Amino acid sequence: MTLMLLLACADPADDPGVAAVLDLQGVVVDGAAVFAESCTACHGPDAKGNEAGPDLVDKLTRREDAEVVETILYGGLGQMGAYEDILADQEVADVLAWLRTL
Ligand code: HEC
Repeated sequence: MTLMLLLACADPADDPGVAAVLDLQGVVVDGAAVFAESCTACHGPDAKGNEAGPDLVDKLTRREDAEVVETILYGGLGQMGAYEDILADQEVADVLAWLRTL
């Protein structure tokens, strides 16, 4: 039963944690501050990447908002940690809004 529920949630937009963030209005200027504090070590100050993480400006043109939020909340493929217990939902919404201005 649990497995069926997980499979039913395969679309990231159906995940309640992702949906809660997508319901919020992101504030671009606050998102820039969140990014500067939490993300530049691996993605560089302008999100163009460095040796530790990929260029988000390039990648995110091909990602839905729900996919971006899913990665931030629950982590990447192994090297990027999960931020669901580190950032507030509003901070995740803010950083998404900032990323979408790049
Ligand atoms: C410890 C290094 C590290 C930090 C810190 C980090 N990331 Fe990442 N990030 C990565 C790596 C590496 C990947 C590629 C996937 C993987 O291997 O985990 C990634 C992938 C991503 C992706 C998915 C890109 C795609 O191809 O869809 C997004 C979005 C992202 N990061 C955003 C952020 C945001 C926003 C923050 C700050 C809250 C952040 N990252 C902090 C290392 C990091």
